[in-house]
Amino acid sequence: MNFPIFDPGPMGLSSLVAVIAIVHVLIAHFAVGGGIAIPWLEARAIRTNDRVLGDFLHKYSRFLILFSFVAGAVTGVGIWFVIAIASPEAITVLIRQFVWAWATEWVFFIVEITSGYVYYFYWDKMSPKAHVRVGIVYAVSAWMSLFVINGILTFMLTPGDWLTTGSFWDAWLNPTFWPSLLLRTVSALALAGIFVAVVANLDRSLDREKGRHIIEAGSVFLVPLALMIPLSVWYFAVAPHKASQLALGGAVAMTMFFGFGILASTLVGLYAYFGLIKNRRYINLETALLLTAIAFVATASMEYVREGIRKPFIIYDYMYANGLRVDEVDKINRSGFFEAKPVVAREFDHLAATPEERGRVIYQVECQRCHAVDGYNAIRPLIATWDAEMIKFNTRQLNRLKGFMPPFAGSESDLNDLVAYLSTLRTANWQAGAAKSESKGGGQ
Ligand code: HEC
Repeated sequence: MNFPIFDPGPMGLSSLVAVIAIVHVLIAHFAVGGGIAIPWLEARAIRTNDRVLGDFLHKYSRFLILFSFVAGAVTGVGIWFVIAIASPEAITVLIRQFVWAWATEWVFFIVEITSGYVYYFYWDKMSPKAHVRVGIVYAVSAWMSLFVINGILTFMLTPGDWLTTGSFWDAWLNPTFWPSLLLRTVSALALAGIFVAVVANLDRSLDREKGRHIIEAGSVFLVPLALMIPLSVWYFAVAPHKASQLALGGAVAMTMFFGFGILASTLVGLYAYFGLIKNRRYINLETALLLTAIAFVATASMEYVREGIRKPFIIYDYMYANGLRVDEVDKINRSGFFEAKPVVAREFDHLAATPEERGRVIYQVECQRCHAVDGYNAIRPLIATWDAEMIKFNTRQLNRLKGFMPPFAGSESDLNDLVAYLSTLRTANWQAGAAKSESKGGGQ
């Protein structure tokens, strides 16, 4: 390993990534969905000479552009920062494979941001037709940035033929590319629709009837949510079998989040159609915020599932979540951890170190991506009641113990070192109760 090891403390690396990623995904989806919704509605307002809707869209576009550009940029940089710390090996693979895709995406960003600013600042200052055209440029470039990044995100779950061909196109246009693109587009439009209801409620110049009119116009973007179930079925049909199994019963947490995500989305879609469009119900601010919260949790759940079902890999069948390549593990088993990782061995004088110290380094490389000692997915309570023999027995077959853990990689003596380190956690008196009952039973 050529990268420094970062210990985030009790927060844990994966939860750090998850929090920033989820916030960023929400903002980015909103930027795309809003980018499509606004010029679409503007064209309709012009066609029907709808002054109320036109004025509202002007305010809404300020909200979209200022919020999503600023917050999107900040969290976007945050993502790069945190994934580079958490998974430098995987990011290295992605950059090598996709550098031109990212460059292309950034060109779309520039077009998106420029046209977005022109669209907002030249409202009423250009002919309505030209203005809608600028909006269309904005919508297309925003969606294209999703189109490009979607191939990179889906690659990690389904690298497909790339595993044998190594070709860019196999990597980018991989098996989950299309269902994921549609799922994301649907959720982007829905977020835009929900925010129409929020902004309409915050707009004091609108009375109830005008508010109802605008919310009805915005709710069409929620209706595609009703497609969530068939699109998810498609997605899981092309995802690796083992990954789908995790979401469909294999791992309780995944299954619950997945169920919640599609159920919440589908219900919001049906509510939009039957409640808001057919029966012209009004959404007040509280309900709009509640819908926003549901959308937030549903999006977060789906992202969590997407990340979770990829375990034990970070790039499926190619690299484990701890950054070890699948084809590297045999070598590490044969030659020993520190022989296979000469940089780590050099930086840290493993020959002079105690078994516990060596074990700690192995732990930091192989386990710390997913476990904190105390805190997120904490290792200490997991092994609190185990004796050294049991720790060793289980660590030897981690991948069989829990299918979403990578196998332990190292020689017999590395395993002993890791067990020596883990045992120090256990005996550090974490659970007085457990320690007591053990000593009564004559343990240690
Ligand atoms: C890909 C992420 C990941 C990696 C890497 C990982 N684990 Fe885990 N591990 C988990 C998850 C998730 C659980 C389940 C926790 C739970 O059930 O509460 C778990 C559970 C465990 C358990 C308890 C198992 C049981 O059945 O009670 C032990 C022990 C453990 N891990 C040790 C390790 C060690 C040692 C390493 C490094 C050699 C490691 N893990 C690497 C994700 C990981």
